[in-house]
Amino acid sequence: MADDMTAVLRWADEPGGGPAVVLLDQTRLPAHEEERWCRDVPALVRAIRELAVRGAPVLGVAGAYGVALAAARGDDVEAAAAELAEARPTAVNLRYGVERARAAWRAAGRAGGDATGTALAAARELHAEDARASTAMAGHGLELLTRLLPAREAGWRLLTHCNTGALVSGGEGTALAVVRAAHTAGRLERLWIDETRPLLQGARLTTWEAARWGLPHTLLADNAAGSLFAAGAVDAVLIGADRVSADGSVANKVGSYPLAVLAHHHGVPFVVVAPISTVDLDTARGADITIEQRGAEEVTGSGDGRHAPAGVAVHNPAFDVTPPDLVSALVTEGGVAPPSEVRRLAAGYDGPRAT
Ligand code: MRU
Repeated sequence: MADDMTAVLRWADEPGGGPAVVLLDQTRLPAHEEERWCRDVPALVRAIRELAVRGAPVLGVAGAYGVALAAARGDDVEAAAAELAEARPTAVNLRYGVERARAAWRAAGRAGGDATGTALAAARELHAEDARASTAMAGHGLELLTRLLPAREAGWRLLTHCNTGALVSGGEGTALAVVRAAHTAGRLERLWIDETRPLLQGARLTTWEAARWGLPHTLLADNAAGSLFAAGAVDAVLIGADRVSADGSVANKVGSYPLAVLAHHHGVPFVVVAPISTVDLDTARGADITIEQRGAEEVTGSGDGRHAPAGVAVHNPAFDVTPPDLVSALVTEGGVAPPSEVRRLAAGYDGPRAT
């Protein structure tokens, strides 16, 4: 976890209080740094659906702790695991985290061991692995940018979408961890941050993290990105991913695909940074990725205000899919590869090493 931030997610089991998964409520940021206590799986599922905890890697960690929570409470673990895995459909990490803890719980139960303790240990292990993966991705990503981009005396101008920092991870995140590494290496001139309509993860969360990390940054409306490319003011785009299918297609926050098209048109590298747990070899093609559709109210208004006429028909997909030919490179904790080699990357890698 980064610096002095309230833990993005932690396990609590205080005497008299019972077990709980405690989240930093991301719906309250940046104005309020508040914890949200989930004392049972339905509460955690609600928090996931409301995006109090969000971003692919940490969704996996939350799912794993959720299985441990059900076990610790003596609830029906299989039912809880199914409910958690389905809380949001696109980020495959959620399913991955749930399955890992459920498999550990089942195996320990069959062997007559401490099934609850084993599920919790699996969640803690995934949490720590995710932090190590962040560090590795930051290193690989910086190396890639150094190879790919011409050296600029003032540093690089990088553009990002949504939020991919410490709020989505046990460590410093995915794409934003690479941006931070570039800053630390003295190579960042500016981070352009898309506001990321409709839920404003860029405006609310990435600006908050960038300020805490001292990154020089500028916020823009999503539809201002094109003019930045046209002005030659973007050296690379860095984004995360919610699922990478076997053909190397990348599902990420809606608005990523138009950026990829823009980047391609302007000859700018479009780099995707994601842990290998985001790769889903069971999903053959991008078109097979389930895209979460969210409520109309997210588009018709914001906060308590409504700006669209009541009852207007709304299209609100939470993610879009970028085809592999628009992705310059995929950065994972196992290394960097073109998206066409995602199978090799995923198959040849057996998990992050302890340091
Ligand atoms: O709907 P969200 O906020 O959960 O969407 C998050 C994203 O799209 C992130 O870019 C993605 O999970 C990658 S974060 C490593």
